[in-house]
Amino acid sequence: MLLAGISATLIAFSTYATAFNINSNANYASYYGQNSAKNQKSLGEYCQDAIEDVIVLAFMQGFPNILLNFANACETTFEGSTLLNCPNMAKDIQYCQSQGKAVILSMGGASGAYGFTNDSEAVSFADTMWNTFFKGSSDQRPFGDAVLDGVDLDIEGGGGIGYPAFINQLRSHYTSDPSKSYYITSAPQCPFPDAYLGPTLDSAWFDMVYVQFYNNYCGLNAYPSSFNFGDWDNWAKTKSVNKDVKIFIGAPGSPAAASSGYVDGATLKTIYNDIRSKYSSLGGIMTWDISQSRTSGIATEIRAALGAGEAGKGVDIENKNSEVSSAESTTSTTSSSSNLEDANEPTSSAPYNDINELVQVTSDTSESTIDSSEPTNDTSGDCPVDGASCAGSQQGCNGQQFALCANGKWYLSLCAPGTICTLNNGGVVCDWPNGRSTNTCGVTGG
Ligand SMILES: *[C@@H]1O[C@H](CO)[C@@H](O)[C@H](O)[C@H]1NC(C)=O
Ligand SMILES: *[C@@H]1O[C@H](CO)[C@@H](O)[C@H](O)[C@H]1NC(C)=O
Repeated sequence: MLLAGISATLIAFSTYATAFNINSNANYASYYGQNSAKNQKSLGEYCQDAIEDVIVLAFMQGFPNILLNFANACETTFEGSTLLNCPNMAKDIQYCQSQGKAVILSMGGASGAYGFTNDSEAVSFADTMWNTFFKGSSDQRPFGDAVLDGVDLDIEGGGGIGYPAFINQLRSHYTSDPSKSYYITSAPQCPFPDAYLGPTLDSAWFDMVYVQFYNNYCGLNAYPSSFNFGDWDNWAKTKSVNKDVKIFIGAPGSPAAASSGYVDGATLKTIYNDIRSKYSSLGGIMTWDISQSRTSGIATEIRAALGAGEAGKGVDIENKNSEVSSAESTTSTTSSSSNLEDANEPTSSAPYNDINELVQVTSDTSESTIDSSEPTNDTSGDCPVDGASCAGSQQGCNGQQFALCANGKWYLSLCAPGTICTLNNGGVVCDWPNGRSTNTCGVTGG
């Protein structure tokens, strides 16, 4: 709840997340495009920081006659056509990719008319997809020159015909461009096997599967009794064509994002850590959708909970983190702000053109008390250092970085450019300095 103050007032930066890595168990995927919180920003704004690793664009809600819908993110069509023409999203996709994120287009969704009647239609639609969104060519490409990183199947209706043929054909196009990695992902609901995609999941290649652990008896709210990640892990290892397929814990981004299944950030962290200790198929966390997760603040908590992750399976996360931390702490033993910025170099180069607008937009939905209460200094004056030990759910400030305690270790992240970290009502927030010191240290909570 306190973290909501942080992300509602700024875009927070993670020290660790740098780029999507398919082999990591600490990736964060979020859906963008359906504006479910009614305050969806441009894709580029969400890509300025290092919170998410994978952006899944939702949705292509009609196919094989393409019907795209990204709510307020794209509302223009090609002349004489119903096909969306989205030059702004095109630029943003390329920007997100330059920030190390994978951008994937989701086909399907809860509403819409879609589906194939036979395999040949599915195969020919894979050719259309390659030409329209990937390295092929077409007169009308909604995202112009941008080349997507993959396709997601969120099939919640329309039958299950043709998907294996579609995937096989698209993957054969993928291999024609060895210059980059392309992915096939899916978002089944948690009851196993999935009603629509069950047979497809068993017979076609998937790189990542974001299981929707919500709106069902097996959701996050049923942890641990009926929460069924184990069924999906078992599928990954015994039935999946790709035995290294990564399973994500799909979570609602706020209480309003799903009818059931929402758990708060602390609970999600506990579940994630438990799953991480038990199941090597874990790929990370997915949220529906980014407008919800950024507004509620859970996106920041998820990034902190994921931490650096590990580039491989079965590595003890604590060891991995201490490696990272010891390297970091050598540069952060002095706490001058220039050192801190050096330690976070990747984020400081991000363009930040619309900071006023960001603050304006987000302040509408903020429930925090930043403006109405004076910051109070912590009397201990402790200066949290990345990787050093901390207790419980302590939070803290180190100048322009805010610190979250996770698994007994501090994770420091940069406040948005121009803002400082202050202790506030037993938590921390990043806020405009308004004459305050830009170098305050302190620890609060427990
Ligand atoms: C596949 O479905 C399409 C569209 O309904 C149809 O035109 C085509 O004849 C079908 N092909 C076969 C081989 O059944
Ligand atoms: C809080 O810390 C700042 C910077 O160290 C200092 O200038 C200010 O007086 C302190 N405020 C309180 C209420 O102690």
